[in-house]
Amino acid sequence: VKTDTRFLWEHSDVVQTMPKRKRSSHKGTHGKLLIVGGSKEMSGAVTMTAKAALRSGAGLVTMAVPETVYEAVASCVPEAMYRLWPAEGGAFAGVADWAGLDIDAMAIGPGMGRTEGVRRLVSELVRQPVPLVIDADALFFWDDYAERVRERSAPTVITPHPGEMARIVHRSIREVEHDRFGVSKRLAMEYGVYVVLKGPYTIVTTPDGAQYVNATGNPALAKGGSGDVLTGIVAAFLLQHEAVQPAVNNAVFIHGQAADWLVQNGHSLWDVLASDVIDALPAVLARLG
Ligand code: APR
Ligand code: MG
Repeated sequence: VKTDTRFLWEHSDVVQTMPKRKRSSHKGTHGKLLIVGGSKEMSGAVTMTAKAALRSGAGLVTMAVPETVYEAVASCVPEAMYRLWPAEGGAFAGVADWAGLDIDAMAIGPGMGRTEGVRRLVSELVRQPVPLVIDADALFFWDDYAERVRERSAPTVITPHPGEMARIVHRSIREVEHDRFGVSKRLAMEYGVYVVLKGPYTIVTTPDGAQYVNATGNPALAKGGSGDVLTGIVAAFLLQHEAVQPAVNNAVFIHGQAADWLVQNGHSLWDVLASDVIDALPAVLARLG
């Protein structure tokens, strides 16, 4: 492996590549995001993705959730708009049922569950010609739609933790952890996707094989929900950056920096909740203009 394709993504890179918010902007300028996820067992995950996206500058967020969790989710995210899908079977023509959707990017998977309905929905969503973030339960069905991902023309970002990555590449978690760079690079280049392999020192790999290491973040993030927050930041930044690579790297950097800010400002490594990470975004973003 050539070492000159590996970089550390630093604070100065973030400062140089963060988009400026124009005085003349309106909600449409910053993009319309569709977030698809949620299940009776995990209604909080998609809520955190949506809040994180809104806190990261997404202009308009629509959440597509199963009808069984709609009320719970909607009461938590009053800023979002909603579309529903049937949790189990039921009459549903897929994306076509969500009439009037005019979206600029999509994030799919958080807390979505692994039912047959989810398998079908995810395989259909992958066909939509907009930038796409695939996370969590949507990654569980990778083998079903991987060939479609290869054919996508809009950018695709996948955000697996080592366990999800192991399943995608049919290797053990041990093998993934032993060769995080190699596994990421092969997957990114084979399918033409941006790969965010999470964990301490998250690695972002671009479809052409360039790799960026992130050094922000701390073990306070090792708690349910932190990944869902990252997905929201990535999706919001995809909408607002000119290029995908800085969007993804800046999202990973700022997610980690929010956790770092919390432990420097009265929190311990034990107590931090994923929602605290969302609440810390203003402090971190404010320093970036
Ligand atoms: N140092 C730095 N960053 C860390 C650390 C650490 N020690 N531990 C975790 N993180 C970061 C990761 O880099 C990642 O951004 O926290 C986030 C954790 O993301 P996930 O592993 O996806 O965790 P979570 O959001 O809790 O996911 C919970 O979703 O993906 C499914 O199978 C998963 O059911 C589980 C659920
Ligand atoms: Mg996760």
